[in-house]
Amino acid sequence: MTRWLVTGAAGQLGTHAVGLLRASGADVVATTRHELDVADAEAVHAALAEHAPDVVLNAAAYTAVDAAEEDEDTADAINRRGAANLARALTERGTGRLLHVSTDYVFAGDATEPYDVDAPVAPTGAYGRTKLAGERAVLSTLPDRAHVVRTAWVYGGPGPNFVDTMLRLESERDTVDVVDDQVGSPTYVADLAAALLELGRRADVAPGVLHYANAGQASWFELAREVFRLAGADPERVRPTDSAAFPRPARRPAWSVLSTRAWEAAGLPAPRSWPAALQAALESRTRPAPAG
Ligand SMILES: NC(=O)c1ccc[n+]([C@@H]2O[C@H](COP(=O)([O-])OP(=O)(O)OC[C@H]3O[C@@H](n4cnc5c(N)ncnc54)[C@H](OP(=O)(O)O)[C@@H]3O)[C@@H](O)[C@H]2O)c1
Repeated sequence: MTRWLVTGAAGQLGTHAVGLLRASGADVVATTRHELDVADAEAVHAALAEHAPDVVLNAAAYTAVDAAEEDEDTADAINRRGAANLARALTERGTGRLLHVSTDYVFAGDATEPYDVDAPVAPTGAYGRTKLAGERAVLSTLPDRAHVVRTAWVYGGPGPNFVDTMLRLESERDTVDVVDDQVGSPTYVADLAAALLELGRRADVAPGVLHYANAGQASWFELAREVFRLAGADPERVRPTDSAAFPRPARRPAWSVLSTRAWEAAGLPAPRSWPAALQAALESRTRPAPAG
């Protein structure tokens, strides 16, 4: 049976990936940050020697986009060095694949059509720079056994995410102003986790970069309106504004929709649309937990 090791197991992706793996009866070693710090090369080496995974899913990351501007060294230690440590340990073992997750923030965000896997990269902030450095470290260290999967606008929790924030604001405020000049690919973390599990099961997919995101595109404003609508609230309570109204330390890509052409060309299942995924996400929040 394939043995999985998941890093960053308490994050959004880690939680969902481990949950799906366990539900499918897979052999999975889940490591939270406290159990395995990916920035610690010796600890990574020891964990891989102990558990001998066939597939490592690196769901560990420094994802605080604004904080990274002031603390690029820490972001780099996790996003670049942590990824490199995993790739190097797998190289030394001589076996095992790495599924490494990256981001649309490696792109400048000035596109007019969806970014394909070979589009030029040009991160505009520290988070994107460290994620791009992580991609490069993984691909150069473990070229034959590594997949870099870029995704975007991930929601579903646990932990802070845009959809949960909108649901909270819906209950707290009459109106909410949301930027309409940033467009991207909203992605439900449960879909992303299932997609990565499928990639891990498929040994025939060529190594390299892939993109996975729910299909279609939206601005944050459009996404927020759909959250309100699906929650039974009046979408008109969400009002459009622009990024100038919300100055942030890190500049965000203005238009960073990801193309999943390469993903589908590899024979992997096409993602569902973002509104369908969002509906499923909101339904899963209200569904009663299974008995027992
Ligand atoms: N969230 C998004 O919108 C988004 C968009 C595009 C791409 N991505 C990428 O998707 C992947 C998963 O993101 P996510 O949303 O699941 O992030 P997340 O919820 O922030 O989870 C990241 C996890 O990594 C852990 N971690 C941090 N430093 C670590 C270390 N040194 N060693 C081990 N674990 C460490 C974190 O622990 P602590 O919480 O204790 O720090 C957290 O549990 C990441 O590669 C991210 O860059 C995310």
